[in-house]
This record gives sequence, structure tokens and C-alpha cells, in this order.
Amino acid sequence: MILLNPGPVNVSERVRRALLEPDICHRESECSELLADIRQKLLQAFVPGNESEYTAILLTGSGTAAVEAALLSSLPQGKRIMVIINGVYGQRLWNMALTQRLGGVEMRLDWGQAPDLDKIKLSLRQHREIHTVAMVHHETTLGFMNPVEKVAEVVDGLNRVFLVDSVSGLGGEALDIAAPHIYMVASASQKCIQGFPGLAFVIVRKGFMDKSVKTYPKRGWYLNLANYYEEQERGSIPFTPAVQVYYAFREALNELLEEGVAKRCARFRGYATTIRKRMSSLGIKAVLPPEQQSNTLTAFYLPEQMSYEWLHDQLKQEGYVIYAGQGHMESKIFRVANIGALSDKDISGFLDAFEQIIKKRGESG
Ligand SMILES: Cc1ncc(COP(=O)(O)O)c(C=O)c1O
Repeated sequence: MILLNPGPVNVSERVRRALLEPDICHRESECSELLADIRQKLLQAFVPGNESEYTAILLTGSGTAAVEAALLSSLPQGKRIMVIINGVYGQRLWNMALTQRLGGVEMRLDWGQAPDLDKIKLSLRQHREIHTVAMVHHETTLGFMNPVEKVAEVVDGLNRVFLVDSVSGLGGEALDIAAPHIYMVASASQKCIQGFPGLAFVIVRKGFMDKSVKTYPKRGWYLNLANYYEEQERGSIPFTPAVQVYYAFREALNELLEEGVAKRCARFRGYATTIRKRMSSLGIKAVLPPEQQSNTLTAFYLPEQMSYEWLHDQLKQEGYVIYAGQGHMESKIFRVANIGALSDKDISGFLDAFEQIIKKRGESG
């Protein structure tokens, strides 16, 4: 089956084979080496040249675990969080803040609308209680790219902590973490990095981790980043890791480093361009204008009188899995992601199958 949902993705045979590494105990030196290797490779891939300024912290869980751990670990007693919301995952960040009574300012925009930098600046000047600003990098809801680097400069300029949910972006969308001083970036194994689901991680500015995060209140036990950091710096991990998934993730990182992050982004961009051109030639309209579209996912309007379920089932019979819309767009759109160990042939095979399905339906009236 070719997966054109935004993760979990198809992985390479090389990554799949890494699941078969020998069984190990997570308290043995083999596991310490595995953890250290993954942490170092994450820094090499995502903060090249600035590895000493950042640290990577690994958790077993899905992307949400990394996002929530970062958010809850990011602020001292009495301080609050601002969330910029322009999609489902921004809303999730806000829900996390509210659950812990840490919500301060909610900057709510339409889906796919970029935030106004002056408004963020003004709001941060007015709300001294805001310590952390959180937003999503690639808003998977519509495949929208948020201007995180520009927001990072504003937030850093006003001495606040900037946290980015890049669960669906890192490895597939360009992101300069170090230059604009992004403090925390949360992501996971099963999307653009092309591993199996189960490993989540946060890349954190080392000075912030050492001087601040360690002193902040613990707002959870499993999701407290300081716990993980302390143990991982000693070569250990506080809770049982999904060892086999970690082995496979290390192999996925090897593949990413061999391909290069920029080339991976370009490969995904190439697939997306092919998909968008062909869809356009078939009269299928993209929801976002080209300048807002990501490398990795496109939201398209469903043709008139066609249900998502019908389209999905027809494509699945041909071996392709697409993805539904969410919230108020659920019955109006379908989404096609183009991440994972895919080939040009997979993309053209999907597009041929799609065209056949549309034509057959047209002929049957
Ligand atoms: C932007 C974004 N954040 C968070 C998540 C949640 O990730 P997970 O399902 O791995 O918890 C997703 C999942 O698609 C996402 O796209």
C-alpha cells in the first residue's frame, strides 16, 4: 500500500530491517550508545554547525508527547503561554495550555491565515505574563506554511521563549532553528524523517535547558523534559524506550543525512509539484494559493457530488491511501501527502489511478 497520508509513512527496506537488530536491555551500554547516536544525529541534521548550542531529548510516544512535554516544561511558576492558532494543531497547542491552566493569550486566525507580526509584538508588550509563544510550523490541516522564522525573531527580540510544533515539518520543510533562536522544536519519527511511529523528540537550546527548564515546576512526570535531559546526559533514559523503533529511527536518520535535508525537502517539493500540476489539469482545485503551500501536503477540493469516502475507497482498491479533511472542511476536501520512502513511480501510479477513477465516474454519468 502506498501511503499518501501525512504519516505514518512508507519506510525503506533498510529502515524496516533495522527493527531486527538484537534484543537489548535499556539499562545496558548498547542502549546508551544508541541514544547518544540518535541525539547527535538529530543535531547534525537540524542544527548543523550549531550542535553545541542545542540538545536533543528523546521520548517514547507520538508527536503529541513531544509537543506537550515541551510546552509544559517551558515556563516558570506564574507565567503564561500565547498560542497562535490557524489550524487544528494550533488549536491542540492551546487545548494543552488550557488543560494545565497555563493559557494566556490566544491569537486566533482563520485556517491558512498568516499572523501579523506587529500584532504579536504589541500583544507581547501588553502581556508581561506571557513567557512562551507556541505555534505550528507546517499546519497539516491544510498544508499551510507558517512564517515561523519571522515570528521567532519577534519573540526572541522581546525575550520570550518560542516553541515550534514541527511534527509534520521537520525533515521535509526548511527550518532554520539556530539563527532566529528558536528555543524548542518538537517533532517525531514517523513523518518526514521516514521512521516508524513511536519516537518523539524535542530539540532545545542548551543554555535554556541547563539554566532555566531544570528550575521550572514539573507539570507531569512522564512528560517532564528535565527528567529526560538529566538522565540522557548520564547515558540513560528514565522510562523504557521502544528499543526496536529507536534502532529503526537511527537508520532513518542515517538515510536522511546521506540524502541531505535540503535534498529531501527538494524531493518532496518535486512530488508535490507533479501532483499539483496533474490535479490542476484534471480540474481539481487546491485550497491554498501556491505561495502558501508546503512541500509535503496538498489539500484539494473534492469534485462536486463526490464524497471523500467514495474517493478514498476507490483509491484504496488501487493501492493508494489518501487523507480526509478535518473540522469544518471535512466534507469539502481531501488531502494528499507526499512524504516517506516514495518514488516517482509511486506518484505517477497514484495520479494515473486517480485520473482513471475520475474519468470512469464521468462516463457513468
Ligand atoms: C502539526 C502536527 N502536530 C502534531 C501532530 C500530532 O502527532 P502525533 O499523531 O504523532 O501525536 C500532527 C499529526 O499529524 C501534526 O501534523
